[in-house]
Amino acid sequence: MNLLSFNRPTTARPWPNKKPSHRSPFLVLSFLFFFFLFFFLLYYSFTPPSPFLDSLKTPFPSPPECASRVPFPGEKFLWYAPHSGFSNQLSEFKNAILMAGILNRTLIVPPILDHHAVALGSCPKFRVLDPDKIRISVWEHVVELIRSGRYFSMADIIDISSLISSSFVRAIDFRVFAFHWCNLNIDATCVNKLDMPSTFLHSLKQCGSLLSGLDGSVEKCLYAVNKDCRTTVWTYKNGNEDEALDSFQPDDQLKKKKKTSYVRKRCDVYKNLGPGSEAESATLLAFGSLFTAPYKGSELYIDIHETPRDQRIQNLMQKIEFLPFVPEIINAGKKFAHETIRAPFLCAQLRLLDGQFKNHRKSTFLGLKQKLESFHQSPHPIHIYIMTDLPESNWTGSYLEDLAGDSNRFKLFSLKEKDELVRETAKRLVDASHGLSFGFIPKTRDGGGKINKYCHPPMLPDVLLYIEETVCSCASLGFVGTPGSTIAESIELMRKHEVCSSQTEL
Ligand SMILES: *[C@@H]1O[C@H](CO)[C@@H](O)[C@H](O)[C@H]1NC(C)=O
Ligand SMILES: *[C@@H]1O[C@H](CO)[C@@H](O)[C@H](O)[C@H]1NC(C)=O
Repeated sequence: MNLLSFNRPTTARPWPNKKPSHRSPFLVLSFLFFFFLFFFLLYYSFTPPSPFLDSLKTPFPSPPECASRVPFPGEKFLWYAPHSGFSNQLSEFKNAILMAGILNRTLIVPPILDHHAVALGSCPKFRVLDPDKIRISVWEHVVELIRSGRYFSMADIIDISSLISSSFVRAIDFRVFAFHWCNLNIDATCVNKLDMPSTFLHSLKQCGSLLSGLDGSVEKCLYAVNKDCRTTVWTYKNGNEDEALDSFQPDDQLKKKKKTSYVRKRCDVYKNLGPGSEAESATLLAFGSLFTAPYKGSELYIDIHETPRDQRIQNLMQKIEFLPFVPEIINAGKKFAHETIRAPFLCAQLRLLDGQFKNHRKSTFLGLKQKLESFHQSPHPIHIYIMTDLPESNWTGSYLEDLAGDSNRFKLFSLKEKDELVRETAKRLVDASHGLSFGFIPKTRDGGGKINKYCHPPMLPDVLLYIEETVCSCASLGFVGTPGSTIAESIELMRKHEVCSSQTEL
């Protein structure tokens, strides 16, 4: 995918205005008239009366003040550009919650992006997408998710309700925010309709360049953070280290080879973007990627691990160390463990196809083999849940084939996307639409805050991964994961937090 294939507006204006036209006004007017008539008729003749109809009054956004662009005047917001696979997006989501807590801004909760739809690049190699570029590519992908009826919020899957109810953070759904910001008078609960008019999508795309800060910051309205992991490590109330040099800098070899001239400084996020800063006055603060990881004794981008000087943030960090899946997912995983496997079992998470993992098949299998050899002989077969990206039809010739063939010693279980339990759970999530259940949401027509029946997404979310992680958190005989896999890490975390024995209510 070409990440740079967006259309940059040629004008330097802060708002996406229409280009000056030299055609006669009459022509333009009559064109517009027929255009609207066409869409009106198209709409009326093909769709049942729906809340969507009265919502299309302004197909082109006019440029109002920033204040009128937000759903809640006076409130300040924060958005960021997630990337890569789900586990990575989840870790960025946690960082975003932390930043929103520190800066006391309402977090704009993004959708789950397709795996590898947006890539950042490599921080240690100082080769990453600029913050404005990654923001616009996230925006374009979001528009694509809307267009194809596959928009699902991070908060549809990850349960942040206790963070919200205990006022640790305020949050708003990306759709609700974006439609206000772009002045698109549309029911956000309806975005997953497939017959979304192209004018609407066009306006949304245009608006994205503004929100992404492609034209830079806009006074009091948008502050586009352009510091990224090449230049900055964010800290918080950590003594007097603001502006100090970080311990990890590009070395001479890298500087010469890549012609980089970056200097990495440690910057206090509160001093730089909080009260008294230029950023503070902006209604919307836009980060680029919030990806970080320990590297060479430092952190790539965010080095905030404890804040004894701020108990509120300290508590928040404890809360977000582990964010559970929503109850629908946890219940599905438990159900499979208790009702289908119905015995103590081992979980083997074998990542064999994706990226770097292709080359480590042998060692991945070896871990499982050793674990199985450690079990004592038993007259009953060992139950094993297999979570792998290698399709069963391709097990031939691998250790998995040996296991599957030895039914006296092993009994294997797995789940597939088309299984009833998985589909059922996906439907439940669509009905629940947790992502729209908090923050500044006008109650929908049926009054219950439930998603409107007209607006059911035509696609079901892909929930297999989350259910499988939950099943593995229930594996009482142990867990063997793929070394280096973020999925293995999140399963370990779920096991540590004893997700399987917790009570979940629906
Ligand atoms: C955070 O923001 C909210 C709403 O804008 C405000 O009511 C509250 O006083 C702020 N809290 C702090 C600690 O500044
Ligand atoms: C799986 O098997 C099919 C057909 O047997 C083959 O075409 C495909 O390349 C295999 N995929 C992998 C990842 O081994």
